[in-house]
Amino acid sequence: MNKSPDAQRPPPQSYGAASMERIVSLCKRRGFIFQSSEIYGGLNGCWDYGPLGVELKRNLKNYWWCVMVHERDDVVGMDGSILMNRAVWKASGHEDTFSDPMVDCRSCKARLRADQIIEKKGVLQCPNCGGKDLTEARPFNLMFKTYVGATEDESSITYLRPETAQSIFVQFKNVLEVSRKKLPFGIAQIGKAFRNEINPRNFTFRSREFEQMELEYFCRAGEGMRLLDYWLQERLKFYENIGIAREKLHARNVPDEERAFYSKGTYDIEYDFPFGRQELEGVAYRTDYDLSQHQNASGKSLEYFDEEMKQRFVPHVVEPSAGVDRTVLALICEAYSEDEAPDEKGKMETRLVLRFHPRMAPIKCGIFPLLRNNAQLVAKAKEIIDLLRPHMNIFYDESGAIGRRYRRQDEIGTPFGVTVDFETLGEKDAALRDTVTLRERDSMKQERVAISDLAGILGSRIS
Ligand code: GAP
Repeated sequence: MNKSPDAQRPPPQSYGAASMERIVSLCKRRGFIFQSSEIYGGLNGCWDYGPLGVELKRNLKNYWWCVMVHERDDVVGMDGSILMNRAVWKASGHEDTFSDPMVDCRSCKARLRADQIIEKKGVLQCPNCGGKDLTEARPFNLMFKTYVGATEDESSITYLRPETAQSIFVQFKNVLEVSRKKLPFGIAQIGKAFRNEINPRNFTFRSREFEQMELEYFCRAGEGMRLLDYWLQERLKFYENIGIAREKLHARNVPDEERAFYSKGTYDIEYDFPFGRQELEGVAYRTDYDLSQHQNASGKSLEYFDEEMKQRFVPHVVEPSAGVDRTVLALICEAYSEDEAPDEKGKMETRLVLRFHPRMAPIKCGIFPLLRNNAQLVAKAKEIIDLLRPHMNIFYDESGAIGRRYRRQDEIGTPFGVTVDFETLGEKDAALRDTVTLRERDSMKQERVAISDLAGILGSRIS
């Protein structure tokens, strides 16, 4: 279970360090992601999602839940507690082996991950001070320890969960009984996980508090390898359906020496982030290791009874395990772009656009009365708000020139804009009464549509 560091691969050509800086700055400026506890200097590895970030994250989690649970007959959900009996972490192996090897530099007192130590002419050196007086590598457990109850002693120790998966394994029997599912079937969960990462980095990519979206898909031993491939393909499709370009996604077949000893096959789904190709999700065939460990440690049967074969056995499991925060970061990196567009006077200027898939966009449609001091235009715009609000998250903006308002929405990835103008009031041409301009973010194309058709048109383009 040793956590091997993500292999650092070179960034793809189209990105540079500058674009990551711009992305981080946009995230703060427009309210996607803030540093946690910022007014006190922050807390390393922890992040807060602002008004737009929380919408983006929610859209992602809702879509995952829809595809992985609601649209399938063979998957049910659960929501486990973050704190569990310490015995869970002993049985799963996390207490003994969920660690990174660490080295201390006796010269500058830095504590470093073993893979950060540099070697020059065959001599190991501290990357901070160049010192050669280093300790042996020692394991450092990544779980956050805490105490349950009033006394802080050995008997009250437990941990904040480092993955959501274990609560699925320990509830396997209960969920099986209440859902009356037959193999193969899965249990899905979305929730917080905590790891005391030695070196949180790359914005939210490696955090100490993050969310996972995990599916444990239970099956017979003979089906494991086929289902591993099946889930890899399903998961790749998922990323494409949220707007991640297929050519920036990579399925890495994890070699034997990097795989957990109990896994018969693992793929990492990787994405070309601006800082290099890095893991978004792991899809692992974990055999019957987890259920067997908990069955042995708890003394409670976690077997499945196959009525047709009249056989009792511990099921195997295939696990697609994705990170919410990493996927949100990938969505933002993928969407970020700069192009050229004419300003109010027709002069070309740089336009910053987040090209989110409409399904993921935090706000689906901006609504703009051409002039804010015209009561009829404003009243019509408010009618449109009432019409659309039950169907989607909308944003009303009446301040500034219309071009500026479009730009503000482009920058946060709003895919559609509706402008109420004098033609809507029927002032120029009675045939255009109750029609509006519908503008599309990426192409900037505008079309005239009837207000009564708006909900239908937008609904079909967003889903
Ligand atoms: N149950 C299996 C498991 O937890 P993992 O590869 O350690 O496997 C699964 O984690 C996913 O959780 C990763 O692919 C990643 O998306 C996310 N994840 C893991 N550690 C993370 C961290 N420190 N910060 C953000 N996301 C993380």
